[in-house]
Amino acid sequence: MTRPLGVAVVGFGWMGHAHTRAYLRARHHYPDLPITPQLVAVADPEPGRAEAAAAQYGFAAATTDWRELLTDPRVEAVSVTAPNFLHREIGAAVAASGRHLWIEKPVGLTGDDARAVAAAATTAGVRSTVGFNYRAAPAVAEARALIAGGAVGRVTNARFRFFSDYAAHPDGALSWRFTRSHGGSGVLGDLASHAVDLARHLLGDIEALVADTTTVIPARPTVTGAASHFSRADGPPGPVENPDHVHALLRFAGGARGVLEASRVAVGEQNTYGFEVHGTTGALAWDFRRMGELSVSTGEDYQSQSYRTVFAAPGHGDFGAFQPGAGIAMSYDDTKVIEAVGFLRSIADGTPYGPALDDAVAAATVVDAMLDSARTGAWVSV
Ligand SMILES: NC(=O)c1ccc[n+]([C@@H]2O[C@H](COP(=O)([O-])OP(=O)(O)OC[C@H]3O[C@@H](n4cnc5c(N)ncnc54)[C@H](O)[C@@H]3O)[C@@H](O)[C@H]2O)c1
Repeated sequence: MTRPLGVAVVGFGWMGHAHTRAYLRARHHYPDLPITPQLVAVADPEPGRAEAAAAQYGFAAATTDWRELLTDPRVEAVSVTAPNFLHREIGAAVAASGRHLWIEKPVGLTGDDARAVAAAATTAGVRSTVGFNYRAAPAVAEARALIAGGAVGRVTNARFRFFSDYAAHPDGALSWRFTRSHGGSGVLGDLASHAVDLARHLLGDIEALVADTTTVIPARPTVTGAASHFSRADGPPGPVENPDHVHALLRFAGGARGVLEASRVAVGEQNTYGFEVHGTTGALAWDFRRMGELSVSTGEDYQSQSYRTVFAAPGHGDFGAFQPGAGIAMSYDDTKVIEAVGFLRSIADGTPYGPALDDAVAAATVVDAMLDSARTGAWVSV
């Protein structure tokens, strides 16, 4: 048995499309899902964008004002895929209206913003899911299971690296991502938050860190209207107010040490997102661009124990919902389908599945600690 659930999407850029496609595909991959999402409404202030979304995907209504969605009794759950500075206001209002919330990371500009949204969801008793989609990759699920099962021994050290070149061009537009008031902490909220979530997901809580940040391109051409990650512009230059790079040393509560690096201006790197985890008897490595491959070194040899490639397969995370055999490629959008399904299941039975607002609060708290450390030059307890 499945029941319909009215959903709305606020903000129709890249992530608005990704969430909508995920809702539409959820039951294709999970036919037993107890909830079938219905596209009720979409909001975006950019002229024509919400109407285009409605025409493309079949939303029943389109508006430029997200507040209208919260007066529509057909809307039971909302995706918040608008820029970071709107997460707190919209996220808290969605929750306070009694609607379930699937919200993109980093959930606001600061840890305080994430905590405010989490408190609103707790008070209202609604379910939440947060867009930390990399943990949905089946190879990452398998890595987590191997680590938990002791396959690499005691974890001693790890590296989490999120490098992108999306802002490497000096003509890259001064979009909302580059101002403190609209983008918050720059690459920290944008990419390092994903890395922090993966680190916590695989190795547990981070208890202390020291971090350094830099802004490599201090000014960018201004732009009028909506601009994405990848837009170029030729307006007069305006200041970049948040970091392009962060490097951090981490101490995990479980004793392991880590290195975390994120950059949005790394020439030569296109979505080089991944990790290496080392233990006393083995090691694991994963690169998002080869999402279905996990490099695994396990055994009893210690030395000369090379990595072998394990292809994601049925039994690894949610792989079996997408493909029947090992090595058949999955995609970025599939991770969003897995995330959507976790959200819908959590609404159906009240149990959280996948990343939720407490994870967003934890990641934002680590990001705040990185900013503190970068300012003072000191180790910071998280
Ligand atoms: N999980 C991931 O992998 C991932 C990837 C990219 C972005 N994100 C997150 O998703 C969010 C959106 O990023 P994006 O890349 O889709 O951005 P984008 O700039 O492509 O799209 C943002 C959209 O929000 C709209 N918008 C602006 N003000 C609005 C308002 N008041 N009400 C409704 N809509 C409004 C814009 O017009 C635009 O269409 C960000 O928080 C970002 O951090 C997550």
